[in-house]
Amino acid sequence: MARILITSAIPYINGIKHLGNLVGSQLPADLYARYMRARGHEVMFLCATDEHGTPAELAAAKTGEPVADYCARMHMVQSELAQGFRLSFDHFGRSSSPQNHKLTQYFAGRLADNGFIEEVTEKQVYSNADGRFLPDRYIEGTCPNCGYEKARGDQCENCTKQLDPTDLIEPRSAISGSTDLEVRETKHLYLRQSALKGELEAWIDSKTDWPVLTTSIAKKWLHDGDGLQDRGITRDLNWGIPVRKGEEDWPGMEGKVFYVWFDAPIEYIAASAEWAEANDKSDADWRRWWRTDEGADDVRYVQFMGKDNVPFHTLSFPATIMGSRDPWKLVDYIKSFNYLNYDGGQFSTSQGRGVFMDQALSILPADYWRWWLLSHAPENSDSEFTWENFQASVNKDLADVLGNFVSRVTKFCRSKFGEVVPEGGAYGDRENELIDDLYIRLRAYQEHMEAIEVRKAAAELRAIWVAGNEYLQAAAPWSEFKTNPDAAAAIVRFSLNLIRFYGVLSSPFLPDASATMLKAMNSDDDTWPEDLVAALDTLKPGHAFTVPDVMFGKITDEEREGWQAQFAGARA
Ligand code: 2FM
Ligand code: ZN
Repeated sequence: MARILITSAIPYINGIKHLGNLVGSQLPADLYARYMRARGHEVMFLCATDEHGTPAELAAAKTGEPVADYCARMHMVQSELAQGFRLSFDHFGRSSSPQNHKLTQYFAGRLADNGFIEEVTEKQVYSNADGRFLPDRYIEGTCPNCGYEKARGDQCENCTKQLDPTDLIEPRSAISGSTDLEVRETKHLYLRQSALKGELEAWIDSKTDWPVLTTSIAKKWLHDGDGLQDRGITRDLNWGIPVRKGEEDWPGMEGKVFYVWFDAPIEYIAASAEWAEANDKSDADWRRWWRTDEGADDVRYVQFMGKDNVPFHTLSFPATIMGSRDPWKLVDYIKSFNYLNYDGGQFSTSQGRGVFMDQALSILPADYWRWWLLSHAPENSDSEFTWENFQASVNKDLADVLGNFVSRVTKFCRSKFGEVVPEGGAYGDRENELIDDLYIRLRAYQEHMEAIEVRKAAAELRAIWVAGNEYLQAAAPWSEFKTNPDAAAAIVRFSLNLIRFYGVLSSPFLPDASATMLKAMNSDDDTWPEDLVAALDTLKPGHAFTVPDVMFGKITDEEREGWQAQFAGARA
């Protein structure tokens, strides 16, 4: 038994995530966590909301709530949606937690002690009326390029020109509208990533098994991007983790907070500390996942994320860990994803384009979405959601293949033998051939799951369902029954065992349908089929079962067209 630590990139707090976000990290991470638990491994699966930064402050300002209230409310919303999609986090934390405050300040202190923090004096706009320094995007004015009057200090939304706040004509504070602004000197902290370049490079080079997508992005930023420039890790915001050196004040840093991308990945660690507190565990219980000197040396740590997050996880966060010179666990494997597009364009949170998690669950249960998203995960290139493709996959894979198998077998058995596993007859060549075929397919399925080849695993699982259907079609117990009821009984018995087997195998992809199959088979034995022959002989003659309700309804053309129209415009 191994110990597997799994983290999903932590979603920003501002707003409900769309299906493209979901398939880029949380959902495949859940698939892997469920699979590893099913194989008997000890799993710690963590996620959280990413609650700091200007987007959180701005979103709260828009709803008129204090930012802490806004974050608490949106955390609950995201947490409930995660449950709706059956994301099986051991803990869904918050980057604003006291644990993350403490750890983030701790890491900053360690980095400073080890010479990896530089204090840099910069000139920045200060608003006398607001009594604070203003981040670039909190300054508005007229664009010198196009004359747009509401250009922001970082960029003009109208003509897209990148700006400095001092470029703006008649600059004013976006918070109060005050024009009483002045340029003042202020200090910021920089993380000296460049000093760790050699170590980072050697570490990345040692990861020869990483997906090409991950490694190519990491190397690009390491060598020719500006990814390894020293990074400012402090900001002038009210909301965030106050800059402290461990438990001490940091002279000159009063009123400043850490940059959101500095504290967000540290929340992976903090989430496990939150888990410990929520579950009455000790510090040692979470530290054994993270400190190689406290038991984590045999942990395998796997991260899931979209490709835009890769530079932060291959360079910045490892630089934080390495620079601490403490034995914290570094990631072992990074599974990254391309983008999922929506019907000829991009999913977009700001434009409300696409299907969002709450909307998805309001029209169909989680398993339908899980299946489509995972079986079309954007692994080797971007992929696209279309309603036609969604309808076709659901109707074919879930309704025609899996659902139909379960329904035919259970209903036929009920009508001819009653709701018990029938006795009589024996397994023969046909069953043995299927077992041989399933043996190979099961091995392939396991290999793909272990390698986190999500699409290939889905394809193999589908093939395993198809094999059962083809067996049933060829064995035709309904014709056999007329002349040889015992032979029909053996086919049905084998098929009922296949349903239980499918319930176990499908559980990482389709947790609800799997529970339905196991419940219908009246079996709480969900152990992974290490021995296929024994697994397919678990339900013995006389064992009672029930016929489940229809597992997957087909999506009609009218429904598809209705949803297509409903989701064509921007979300309200
Ligand atoms: O891209 C995002 O959604 C970020 N909130 C991900 C942060 S992942 C990590 F660093 F914690
Ligand atoms: Zn402009």
